[in-house]
Amino acid sequence: MTDLRLTVAAELERTRARTEALTEAVDDSDLIRQHSPLMSPLVWDLAHVGNQEELWLVRDVGGRDPVRRDIDELYDAFKHPRRDRPALPLLNPAEARAYVRQVRNKAMDILDTVRMEGRPLLADGFAFGMIVQHEQQHDETMLATHQLRTGAPVLSAAPPPVPAHPVDGEVLIPAGPFTMGTDVEPWALDNERPAHVVDVPAYVIDRTPVTNARYAEFIQAGGYEDPRLWGEDGWAHRVSAGLTGPAHWNRDGVTYTRFGRVERIVPDEPVVHVDFYEARAYARWAGKRLPTEREWEKAARFDPATGRSRRFPWGDDPPEARHANLGQRHLSPAPAGAYPEGASPLGVHQLIGDVWEWTDTDFHGYPGFRPFPYREYSEVFFGPDYKVLRGGSFGTDAAACRGTFRNWDYPIRRQIFSGFRCARDARPEEVG
Ligand SMILES: [Fe+2]
Repeated sequence: MTDLRLTVAAELERTRARTEALTEAVDDSDLIRQHSPLMSPLVWDLAHVGNQEELWLVRDVGGRDPVRRDIDELYDAFKHPRRDRPALPLLNPAEARAYVRQVRNKAMDILDTVRMEGRPLLADGFAFGMIVQHEQQHDETMLATHQLRTGAPVLSAAPPPVPAHPVDGEVLIPAGPFTMGTDVEPWALDNERPAHVVDVPAYVIDRTPVTNARYAEFIQAGGYEDPRLWGEDGWAHRVSAGLTGPAHWNRDGVTYTRFGRVERIVPDEPVVHVDFYEARAYARWAGKRLPTEREWEKAARFDPATGRSRRFPWGDDPPEARHANLGQRHLSPAPAGAYPEGASPLGVHQLIGDVWEWTDTDFHGYPGFRPFPYREYSEVFFGPDYKVLRGGSFGTDAAACRGTFRNWDYPIRRQIFSGFRCARDARPEEVG
């Protein structure tokens, strides 16, 4: 097999091992239960991952007959909102496992012989990369379902690294153009393309995501009681949802519940499970604002020495354990300063991994956007309803995370592993 085929096979297998770990950690009754109306039953995610693999790799790329055409409709995310999925006649856990195995065997067979050229869908193995990323994204979703599940803990992992030196403060990002998005990243999705130059005025950005200690100061200062910080839309949600602090923080104010375990809140860890409105209210309270998406990406990718944009803050090499907290290696964000080797040239830390970071930008296509391979991947979500999140979390796999990767969600969502960092306009005396 060629290197590309070997890479694809290894990524498919590595990804499936995680899917299995997340679905085998609980018994069948837990797999079919809905742990939150925001989430699918885990068994839906499992068969849906197989169904997408069947649609794209077995039928489209491989040109083979359907394995189970009769279930396409059940696993079409656009046909059934999550809250309705438990009532569907879904495959049971044993059937779902047999189905995904059958599809995978066919996909591996196709991988052996298919030509990775000709159609754009096949160039550089894109269709396979898309399916790897799709399954990894559902693995993160399933991890979020695990966080919402009640009952005895079933997942465990080593704690994240402890920083040798705490990191705090802000960094000035100089004014000027940089290249946003990509034309060259082989498995980049349609919404990351095309590369385009944007001119960004000077701004200042936090060196790390906002920590639990800082967020607790905001709560203690009455941040949740001050409508001026929230805006009309945010305040309406804050009141109707009864928000008083991040999701999963307990009433005692000193512990949170994580994957079924009650633990003391770690002060210098990035805050997680906050929604866009909470992030924006904090930023206003701190006299700052959330970064725009382009500001986030410039901080993450711009190399002032060469003027070019890197794949990752640390350079073009793929993420390793020393760079970033990715891939469910740890089941929490790492304290601020834990990844000095992952910092950007301008000294911004932990942009990749730990927590998804809310930006103050609606999800839109870049200039010259072309839907690929289908409109439902991104284009149908463009508009003012969704805010962009960047950088990935401890639950995100490296295959589904890079400096150009864009995530989007409703501003009220916080079952995801979402945090934020602040930014502000540069003052004249700072720019010099
Ligand atoms: Fe999906």
